[in-house]
Amino acid sequence: METTILGHRFSAPFFISPCAGGGLPSMASSVSMEAIAAGRPRKDQVLFQQIYVTDNQTANKLLFQRIEKTGAKAMVLTVDSAGDRARHRALRFQENTNLTRYSSYIPMTWGIYKDLQKLTKLPIVPKGIQTVEDAKKAIEVGAPAIFLSNHGGRALDGSRSPFEVALETHRRAPEVFKKIEVYADGGV
Ligand SMILES: Cc1cc2nc3c(=O)[nH]c(=O)nc-3n(C[C@H](O)[C@H](O)[C@H](O)COP(=O)(O)O)c2cc1C
Ligand SMILES: *[C@@H]1O[C@H](CO)[C@@H](O)[C@H](O)[C@H]1NC(C)=O
Ligand SMILES: *[C@@H]1O[C@H](CO)[C@@H](O)[C@H](O)[C@H]1NC(C)=O
Repeated sequence: METTILGHRFSAPFFISPCAGGGLPSMASSVSMEAIAAGRPRKDQVLFQQIYVTDNQTANKLLFQRIEKTGAKAMVLTVDSAGDRARHRALRFQENTNLTRYSSYIPMTWGIYKDLQKLTKLPIVPKGIQTVEDAKKAIEVGAPAIFLSNHGGRALDGSRSPFEVALETHRRAPEVFKKIEVYADGGV
């Protein structure tokens, strides 16, 4: 089952998606990205760092430099959470669900993606692609890969499953799968 992801060797075509708050790898994790990188059992274990960005390019640049220093091989830019969400279950337990406390969220556009590309040499993989149009646009702007995801339905209830998006893309733009790498998560 060995495969490559962005040119790095993996023993199986699987990876762990970012999950904040549980001490697992992501930008809003309860363990810092530096501590996670240092905690790898082997230094050649590949890490991709998930990111949320703001419209403050100085802050983005500082964040990217910090990530580059951890040795991460790519950044995974979550594009499906432009605003705060209503988490009814969490609210019932009075958890603060306002993610804006981590950063001020901005609507994601391909223009913003291109600006971010200029700030780093690391590949930036958009996570949360949900249409065939965006899959094609990603190729146009030079994304090395796309990550189909609906954030597990946590960002927008009722959003389409990655499997449906993959099927639509396969039917309407099969070249996408040949031109760039396509990852997916959800519902496993
Ligand atoms: C507790 C939890 C925290 C998450 N935190 C993040 C996060 O910080 N960034 C992100 O891009 N996705 C986050 N996700 C979404 C996952 O990366 C993934 O897209 C989703 O869980 C896949 O759907 P599934 O749970 O149905 O398999 C989180 C998911 C969970 C369950
Ligand atoms: C942008 O980020 C930098 C670095 O964190 C900070 O010093 C500056 O105040 C921020 N600018 C704005 C307008 O928030
Ligand atoms: C979320 O927090 C931000 C920053 O503290 C605040 O500006 C915003 O009004 C809050 N949103 C809600 C829905 O409470």
